[in-house]
Amino acid sequence: MSLTILLLPLCLCNLFSLLAVSDARITKRTVAPPQTLVIPVSLDENQVYSVMVNMSSNPSPQSFSFALTTSTALTTVAGANCDSCGGVPSYNPSISSSVQQLPQSQNVSTMNGVASGTVVRENCGLLQSNGSAWAYPNQTIIVANQSSSFFSPGVSGTIGMGLTPFTDSPAANWLARNPAQPVFSYGIALDPPSPSNSSGSGGELHWLQPDESFFEGDVAWKPMLAANASIPSNVSSWFVEMDAWSVTGPSEFNISQSGTQLLTVLDPFYGNIVFPQGAARSIYDNIPGASKHSTSAFAHAWKLPCDSKFRLTVTFGTFSTSLDQSTLVVKQADGVCVGVLQEWIDQTATEYLFGSPFIAVLYLIFSYSQSGDGTMGVAARAAKSNKLTAGAIAGVVLGTIAVVALIVIAGVLLYLAWQRRTKPPHVRKPSKTDITPFTDISSDSRTSRQQYTTYGSQLGLLESPSAPGSPNWATTLLSEGGSPNSNTFPGGTTYNESHNSQQYYRTEQNSSVSVLQQQLDSPPPYAIPNGPSPVPLIPLRKNRRGS
Ligand SMILES: *[C@@H]1O[C@H](CO)[C@@H](O)[C@H](O)[C@H]1NC(C)=O
Ligand SMILES: *[C@@H]1O[C@H](CO)[C@@H](O)[C@H](O)[C@H]1NC(C)=O
Ligand SMILES: *[C@@H]1O[C@H](CO)[C@@H](O)[C@H](O)[C@H]1NC(C)=O
Ligand SMILES: *[C@@H]1O[C@H](CO)[C@@H](O)[C@H](O)[C@H]1NC(C)=O
Ligand SMILES: *[C@@H]1O[C@H](CO)[C@@H](O)[C@H](O)[C@H]1NC(C)=O
Ligand SMILES: *[C@@H]1O[C@H](CO)[C@@H](O)[C@H](O)[C@H]1NC(C)=O
Ligand SMILES: *[C@@H]1O[C@H](CO)[C@@H](O)[C@H](O)[C@H]1NC(C)=O
Ligand SMILES: *[C@@H]1O[C@H](CO)[C@@H](O)[C@H](O)[C@H]1NC(C)=O
Ligand SMILES: *[C@@H]1O[C@H](CO)[C@@H](O)[C@H](O)[C@H]1NC(C)=O
Repeated sequence: MSLTILLLPLCLCNLFSLLAVSDARITKRTVAPPQTLVIPVSLDENQVYSVMVNMSSNPSPQSFSFALTTSTALTTVAGANCDSCGGVPSYNPSISSSVQQLPQSQNVSTMNGVASGTVVRENCGLLQSNGSAWAYPNQTIIVANQSSSFFSPGVSGTIGMGLTPFTDSPAANWLARNPAQPVFSYGIALDPPSPSNSSGSGGELHWLQPDESFFEGDVAWKPMLAANASIPSNVSSWFVEMDAWSVTGPSEFNISQSGTQLLTVLDPFYGNIVFPQGAARSIYDNIPGASKHSTSAFAHAWKLPCDSKFRLTVTFGTFSTSLDQSTLVVKQADGVCVGVLQEWIDQTATEYLFGSPFIAVLYLIFSYSQSGDGTMGVAARAAKSNKLTAGAIAGVVLGTIAVVALIVIAGVLLYLAWQRRTKPPHVRKPSKTDITPFTDISSDSRTSRQQYTTYGSQLGLLESPSAPGSPNWATTLLSEGGSPNSNTFPGGTTYNESHNSQQYYRTEQNSSVSVLQQQLDSPPPYAIPNGPSPVPLIPLRKNRRGS
């Protein structure tokens, strides 16, 4: 009975919901999924993507823009007493009646710089596109009293939307206040960095629930591997595994790598793509006229002829995307063209970083479970035509030809709908169901969080089955004597894998293999702690913002 009451309003939303419900063959859920909140993202002339956060409301809100970062879960704001924070608008705890001072102090670092200060809890509000705030009370925030190269002009701090330290994240804050919700999820739909350096819209976040109208095709899910806390990584606190990359270009060159451990972080805080030295050098060796150019705090860049043509293809599970020179080559104000793909200064670094230029071409989803496990999803951005404004639509003159075209399109849509419904199960879109790519988090979740297993010995648990034809790298890596992987450049086979195996771990998930194997079929049911039997999923609703 309660089932019907819950389903009725959901199904009334639109036909897509109905189709998807029957698609997933799932008919009930004890807790309704949260509604998507649209968070506007700004992009400034320094290519910083930021959101607006109000802190405290007593006696009046203190309003800040915070840069987005996914490398950490820590939020940092410049404190009013900070002389080395670049003069950005700062937070004054002494005029807030809602601040709770905590005894500890904390350092937080990016690859560019570092900040440190005391820790507070404060009531915050994240600004939505309709002007309301999404309130998140009692949020842990670092109030910096000193910093070095951490703050960008006009941006008062960073909002950490990453995996760890989980207990300090806005995600854990919300999950604690919503114990019946299995996950906290959000989607990132960035606009590309603007070459003209002008500030403007940077896209949007889909807070609490990704917006399905912004992506198409399969979502490839990757478990987030936490970096070993006793060997702090200065690149990120988590990684996912990229399955392959290749760069193709003039004279048919094709540099590629797959079948080995490619630890990768995606963070819009950085405006570049950074590869290990061996990989980056072999790429630019093949691009005529490329030469070493400038150096940032952590990466070397190349300059190259502005008409260079090459293409980077990156694969995560079933998802692949390609960037060409329109993204990979940026013309600076001085007329020099510079490669977005750079190399680590640190010659021992083996990780891959994909910053905003890469993130802006796809739809990125982060999802955190009540137990603190993280999963990252990547999908293709839906075609721009979905976002025609009302004015643009009104301007279209519907002549006879257009009417005929509409009839044809309707026919195609009907055919596609029919085709989707008749697809064999193994190609069913996971995106048609609620985004909950997690395993069971029932009673033993507390123990499971403590049982860290070293990454190297658990390779079999980490990977969903590869697409047909791609190398079974888990076998390759585990076999003694270093079976060949498929690196096509010198240096690509020399990565020190034992070094990495000590540095990264994931939480124990006994059922993760089967869960991952099922993902292409349909996301697994999940259980609520101490709740009834596993709760099936209901579909993502289309056109959520309209409802
Ligand atoms: C922060 O960094 C400073 C200097 O690097 C160090 O002296 C201090 O102990 C660190 N504080 C914490 C809480 O880690
Ligand atoms: C803005 O959107 C949120 C979520 O959809 C809603 O709760 C809130 O009432 C809206 N605010 C206004 C001013 O419309
Ligand atoms: C945020 O704070 C500013 C003032 O600092 C205020 O004008 C604005 O209304 C606040 N926004 C919300 C959603 O509370
Ligand atoms: C704030 O959060 C902490 C844990 O993060 C909790 O122990 C504390 O009770 C909370 N305080 C309030 C006022 O909700
Ligand atoms: C910042 O605060 C810490 C801890 O309260 C203190 O030790 C340090 O001297 C302060 N730094 C500055 C520059 O005020
Ligand atoms: C480049 O090489 C990789 C691995 O051998 C292969 O998968 C890919 O299709 C090649 N790309 C082109 C454009 O030939
Ligand atoms: C954009 O601005 C940065 C610093 O503000 C500058 O270094 C860069 O050259 C500018 N790029 C263009 C294309 O104007
Ligand atoms: C990480 O730290 C090591 C040692 O402190 C340093 O050599 C390296 O340059 C750093 N790497 C990055 C990417 O900051
Ligand atoms: C973290 O690294 C230390 C030092 O190498 C190692 O002893 C420990 O087992 C690692 N922890 C995990 C969870 O992998």
